[in-house]
Amino acid sequence: MALTPAAGGGESSTSPMPFQTPGPVNAEVQWDGFDPQTYVRHNYADLRADDREFLRRTRDFFAGAKLSEARCVDVGSGANLYPTLSLLPFAHTVDLCEWSAANVCWLRQQVDSYDPMWDPYWQVCAEHPAYAALTDPRRRLARVARVSQTSVFDLPRHAWDAGTMFFVACSISADRAESAHAIARFLRALRPGSPFAVAVMLGSAGYRVGEHSFPAVALARAEVVAGIAAGAYDVEVHEERPRPPLRDGYASMLLTTGRTRG
Ligand SMILES: C[S@@+](CC[C@H](N)C(=O)[O-])C[C@H]1O[C@@H](n2cnc3c(N)ncnc32)[C@H](O)[C@@H]1O
Repeated sequence: MALTPAAGGGESSTSPMPFQTPGPVNAEVQWDGFDPQTYVRHNYADLRADDREFLRRTRDFFAGAKLSEARCVDVGSGANLYPTLSLLPFAHTVDLCEWSAANVCWLRQQVDSYDPMWDPYWQVCAEHPAYAALTDPRRRLARVARVSQTSVFDLPRHAWDAGTMFFVACSISADRAESAHAIARFLRALRPGSPFAVAVMLGSAGYRVGEHSFPAVALARAEVVAGIAAGAYDVEVHEERPRPPLRDGYASMLLTTGRTRG
C-alpha cells in the first residue's frame, strides 16, 4: 500500500506560527469520513510488489506456525482484506475489528462475498500448499468472519490465538505514544505464544483519502522493533524500500512477525 501524503506535507507545514500545534490524537479524528472505496482504489486495486512481498512473507509465516481452528483477529482492517486472507486456512473465526463506521459497513459487504479485485491476493496465498488446499476462500471468509466496530484501545486481553494489524499503528494518530500503545494493546490481545504479523509505514507524514486528511506518526524502524520486542519473541523484520520511491509521504514499509509473550 502507498498512502497519499496529506496536503501541505503533514507536519512539515510552512506556517509562520512560532510553534506547530500537535496533530490530532485518535479520538479527535473523523474516522467515519474515511472513504473505503477511494482508499481501496488507490492502494489495492493493483497488487503492488511491496504488498505482494508482505503477503508472501505473512503467508509463509502463518503456514509455518502450525495453527488450526484458531481464533484470529485483524485490527484496523479498514479497507484491506489481504491480512485476513493470510489467516483464512487456519481460522475457526476471524474478528475484523475496525473503528470507522464507513469501513465497518464496507467490510460487512466484502466478507459476504469479496470483490474479484482480491483474487490476485488470494492467488499469492494459494502458491503455498497450506492455502491451495482451501478451494473456496470466499465461502470460507463468509463463514468465519465477524466484523465489529471495536477500537484497538479497547481490545480484550488474551482473546485470540493469532492476529494481524497492518498500517494501523503508524496511521491512526499524530501522537507517538498512541502509536506505541496501539502495538502494545494488539500484542496483549493475543494469548501468550500466538503468532502475529504487524505492518507499518516508516516516516509517514500523514495521508489523504479523497477529501479527508488523516494523521500519522513518522515512525522509525528502531522504535517499532523495540515496541514489538517488548511484547514478543522470535521477532523477524523485513523492510520494503521502493527504489525509486513509489510516492512521497513515507520512507518505507516494515513487516514484523513473531510470537507474543503475553
Ligand atoms: C491506514 S488505515 C489501514 C487500513 C488497513 N489495515 C490496511 O492495511 O490498509 C488505518 C485504519 O485504522 C482504523 N482506525 C482508526 N482508529 C482506530 C482505532 N482506534 N481502532 C481500530 N482501528 C482504527 C481506520 O479507520 C483505518 O481503517
